Parts: sequence; C-alpha cells; structure tokens
Amino acid sequence: MSYKNLIVEENNKIKIVKISRPEKLNALNNQTLSELNSVLDEIQVNNSVKVVIITGSGEKAFVAGADIEEINKLDVESAKQFSEFGQSVFNKIENLNKPVIAAVNGYALGGGCELAMACHIRFASVKAKFGQPEIKLGIIPGYGGTQRLTRLVGTAKSIELMLTGDMINAEDAVKFGLVNQVFLHEELFRRTLEFAERVSEMSSVIVKNILKASIGGSMLNLKSGLKLEAELFAESCSTDDFKEGTDAFLQKRPAHFEDK
Ligand code: COA
Repeated sequence: MSYKNLIVEENNKIKIVKISRPEKLNALNNQTLSELNSVLDEIQVNNSVKVVIITGSGEKAFVAGADIEEINKLDVESAKQFSEFGQSVFNKIENLNKPVIAAVNGYALGGGCELAMACHIRFASVKAKFGQPEIKLGIIPGYGGTQRLTRLVGTAKSIELMLTGDMINAEDAVKFGLVNQVFLHEELFRRTLEFAERVSEMSSVIVKNILKASIGGSMLNLKSGLKLEAELFAESCSTDDFKEGTDAFLQKRPAHFEDK
C-alpha cells in the first residue's frame, strides 16, 4: 500500500513508520490519521513485523499537533467525531499486539504528544519538546491527552502542563516520567533501532502477553489485574518458547525463540 503522508519501511522484523508532512511540521490532518489507521491494521496481522517505530520526518518535528487548519473548521458535531477518530487510532497503537516505540525527534505537541503517549516506549532526542498547548487555541486535548498525560506524570504536573500550554524539554520529560530515555539527536534513531532489534529477538508470543498483561491490567483494579496476569502467565507456560527459554538457561546456552 502506498501512502501520501507516511513513509513506511521494514528493516529486519522492524516496521518504521515516519509521519511525513515536514512542511507542516508533520501535523496530523485527517488524511495522515487515516493512513496511520490503515498501516496499523496491516501491522497487526503481519507476522513478520515484531516491533514498530514511529517517528517524524525532517529535522524539527515528531508531530506538531493535530492540523490547526482542520480544527479551525470544527463544530460541536464534527469535533466529537474528530476526537473519537483520533482516540480510536491511538487506542489501536496502545492495543497493538507488538511493541510500538516513539522516536521523538523534535516537537511533540498536542496530538504529537498524545501520539507519543499512546506508544509503549518513548525515546527522545535532546532537541525534543513536549507539550499540550491546546488551551492556547481555546480547546482541550482531544486525542487522549487529558487521560494519558495524567496517568504518566500524575494529576498535578499534568494539569499544570495543560493549564499553561508550556513546552518542556526532553530532560524534564524524563524526570516527569513522560519519556524513557534521551539520546543525542544524531544517535536517537540508531539507539531506538538497537532497542527494537533486542526486543525482536525475544519470543513474540511472550512479548504480546507482556503487553496484554500490562496494558490490559492498567485498566483494571489490582485484583482483576493479578487474575489477568496469572492467566497470561499460565498461557505463556504452554508455549514452545517457554520450554526453549528455560531449557536454554539450564543447558547454559543462548535461547532461540520461534514465536510459538
Ligand atoms: N497544524 C497546522 N499547521 C501547523 C501546525 C499544526 N499543528 N504546526 C505547525 N504548522 C505549520 C505552520 O503553520 C507553518 O506553516 P506555513 O509555513 O504554511 O505557515 C509550518 O507548519 C511551520 O511552522 P512554524 O510555526 O512556521 O514553525 P516555527 O519553528 O516557527 O514554530 C512551533 C514551531 C511548533 C512552535 C509552531 O509551529 C507551533 O506552535 N505549532 C502549533 C503547535 C500546537 O498548538 N499544536 C497543538 C495543535 S492541537
């Protein structure tokens, strides 16, 4: 499938999805969001893909938000659809059966910060800037920001960021728990790829169960989350990769997982 606003590449079990509207700082218009929705559907069923990286094209931006030209035309009815569609695409990322890593190479504002937050891991360049500046446009975050930012950094910091619309740099984003690690700008992609390659060597069945337990469990109370964990732990023990992993340890050799 070909895309207008995405560059999609596959590199040895790793799918790289680059948001590509550099002249608009990769702002997410409806077309870009629809293309992202389609590529996620394709990735979900593509067994040759084990890890996904989402990044932005150009030197300045990951994604500078939803497209303000399109937002400007919204009315109450279309605004609800706009928000629900964006939320559904980002939920698809969070619920994907393989890990998604955001390589945040520049501005991650509004919908860009929300996109990064829907990913399972966030790595950032020292040049990255994060923020939810919607308040300055007279709106609130609508692609999950009010929910995911609060869950990641806590209510006080999240409300502070949303009330001011201020941007924070990558170092602060790590400090607040928004980002996993920061790298030199020119090293971001290589370091992200190295991480993705390490994860791609693991059993995809077990990786999927870790995502299911932690993402699924985060929506539940502790008792229900622990029940889900025990079920997935038991299911993991029914796999060939469980036998291989434990045998390999006992035989003092590296494990070779076959995703079964
Ligand atoms: N939607 C639509 N267009 C956007 C955009 C967005 N979210 N963010 C940037 N652009 C466009 C600009 O309008 C400009 O287009 P033009 O050249 O046709 O005028 C182009 O991208 C470059 O942006 P510019 O503002 O000139 O770059 P800058 O380096 O001076 O500033 C930002 C960078 C990110 C600080 C600034 O673009 C900005 O504040 N963007 C909006 C961020 C935002 O509010 N996001 C949340 C949206 S809900």
